[in-house]
Amino acid sequence: MARVAFVTGGTGFTGRYLCKNLKNRGYRVRAIARPQSDKSGLEKIGVEIVEGDFTNRDSLRGKMAGVDVVYHIAATYRQEGIPKREFWRVNVEGTRNLLDEALRSNVDRFVHCSTVGVQGEIKNPPATEDAPYGPGDWYQQSKLDGERLALDYFKNKGLKGTVVRPVGIYGPGDTRFLKIFRYVKNGKFKMIGSGDVLYHLTFVEDLVEGIALAGEKDAAIGRIYTIGGNEYVTLNEYVQLLADIFGTEISKIKIPVWPVWTAGLLFEIVCRPLRIEPPIFRRRVDFFSKDRAFDISKAKHDLGYQPKVPLKEGLKITADWYREQGLLD
Ligand SMILES: NC(=O)c1ccc[n+]([C@@H]2O[C@H](COP(=O)([O-])OP(=O)(O)OC[C@H]3O[C@@H](n4cnc5c(N)ncnc54)[C@H](OP(=O)(O)O)[C@@H]3O)[C@@H](O)[C@H]2O)c1
Repeated sequence: MARVAFVTGGTGFTGRYLCKNLKNRGYRVRAIARPQSDKSGLEKIGVEIVEGDFTNRDSLRGKMAGVDVVYHIAATYRQEGIPKREFWRVNVEGTRNLLDEALRSNVDRFVHCSTVGVQGEIKNPPATEDAPYGPGDWYQQSKLDGERLALDYFKNKGLKGTVVRPVGIYGPGDTRFLKIFRYVKNGKFKMIGSGDVLYHLTFVEDLVEGIALAGEKDAAIGRIYTIGGNEYVTLNEYVQLLADIFGTEISKIKIPVWPVWTAGLLFEIVCRPLRIEPPIFRRRVDFFSKDRAFDISKAKHDLGYQPKVPLKEGLKITADWYREQGLLD
């Protein structure tokens, strides 16, 4: 009998790749999605869709019957112009509903997707999973609270589970990094700050392999894993890789961080009450000013995780996808 996986966030970037990976591993995959979500990509690959909203405890009842492993990938994440409580409603209370339903349904394993953002700026890169917490904004704070909640269920409530913390996720289907690709391609990119800070990326197909393994390997029970690519680079190196792909030049002009950060803060103050997305916000500016590089040896050792796509190749695959989609102009 095929194992049954229950996935949240299957309609999102990472979740879609995970569903495909799990199907290829022979799982029966069940994804929970809200009525308004675009489910067409999942239906095409034979994922069973259950309509529901995990932020509503009642709507989850019975939906995990017969499930072996839960992969909780969904999060409120990409939007910035939303009230603070919305991050906690989804990333913490929604997580609690899923953990409770998993316990009630006697699910064998639970994988909770967190983020390296819970560690904030990394003082002595590369950081291991034991480096101190240091969330820098509401999103990261809510993800930290969600992670702590999951760990409590894993340690004290008898649910066998694992926390995975992805680094920055990229690949075909993502649009978070599109702006940088587009600016570099069009010769308009200007570095904010020195560009010497470290950044760590994971190609989405490698990441979902790591996430899938976290739900399979017994060594992972009760533990936390950072999942990333083999390489991390400075931002200067990152944009140079993109410039090499597009055959463009990077401007030598560098913009100081603090005026942009202050503008981000002001935009957040003005836009949030109006519920509109700020054009710049501090989390985006932090990308240019905070070191983020991680040691992935624990995932390699315990899970047999082995990233396959080198950064240069992954960026080229992503650039080609953006080009095919007509997104670069
Ligand atoms: N992207 C990164 O670089 C990055 C880095 C580190 C960690 N992470 C973590 O990785 C996970 C996946 O990230 P992603 O970039 O793939 O996310 P994504 O593309 O934004 O997808 C988010 C998913 O969550 C669902 N979702 C959002 N709000 C919801 C709500 N209120 N109720 C129910 N479902 C909701 C979305 O459903 P709809 O389709 O209905 O909107 C979607 O399926 C998240 O847990 C994120 O915190 C991401």
